[in-house]
Amino acid sequence: MTTSSSERGVSLGMPELPAPDYPDDVRARLETDAREIVARYPDSRSALLPLLHLVQSEEGHVTRTGMAFCADVLGLTTAEVTAVATFYTMYRRRPSGDYQVGVCTNTLCAVMGGDAIFETLQEHLGVGNGGTTDDGKVTLEHIECNAACDFAPVVMVNWEFFDNQTPASARRLVDDLRAGRTVSPTRGAPLCTFKETARILAGFPDEREGALEAGGSAGPASLTGLRLAKGEAGPARVVHPRDGGPHAEQHDEPQDAAHRPSPAEHASSHDAPRETAASDPSHPAGPAAEEGE
Ligand code: FES
Repeated sequence: MTTSSSERGVSLGMPELPAPDYPDDVRARLETDAREIVARYPDSRSALLPLLHLVQSEEGHVTRTGMAFCADVLGLTTAEVTAVATFYTMYRRRPSGDYQVGVCTNTLCAVMGGDAIFETLQEHLGVGNGGTTDDGKVTLEHIECNAACDFAPVVMVNWEFFDNQTPASARRLVDDLRAGRTVSPTRGAPLCTFKETARILAGFPDEREGALEAGGSAGPASLTGLRLAKGEAGPARVVHPRDGGPHAEQHDEPQDAAHRPSPAEHASSHDAPRETAASDPSHPAGPAAEEGE
């Protein structure tokens, strides 16, 4: 609660300030939440990352208003807040969908089918990298490695894992999201909207039933590597989940029988060679258009 953000000029290609303020009731509510977050840190500026998640939970992306709010609360310049908000890809800078569908196209996932999944979803949804469907439900984007390479190719929806995907299963996934059908991540907490996810990332408890109990673990290959590193004997062959591993049942038996893939649909790069040079030719897509552009 320091000087007005309008006094803090910023360029860096960002929209012009001053930003409009939040309505009084929204600001009061956010200030209460912000005080709780800031109190967790010995140095208030350390609260910037969770505060950006907090303002993202309000509008679904980090707006100029949200950045000015963070600057005011923490006594930072808007340039400092902007530098952080534009550095981390978890902060969205323009309106996006309820479900952020991130396809890992980092090296391992790409060669295991991530490129094909991304290409399929682009065609199926009619949007490119960073694009949002007309119904406002799904935003598609490339993501980098999420340390789930055991389960490649991986798709993440609002940062929850959907392991061992294929183009067909990913297509079903986005169709279910758009239709409002319940979808369950392969492991971890139940899915919620992007705004709800942002609030959890800001550090507020996930009070949904079963959310805290839901867990996940490293894949069999990682665990084998860990055992070997400890000098223990590992199995002669690591069995992939599709071949009977711990997630085989989840993956091979979709909840909805109508969605059960045929063997042809289920083929993936695990099962057969796949063309891997199908990367999105426009990736990286360059700087995303900023809010208001
Ligand atoms: S390369 Fe996709 S999770 Fe690691």
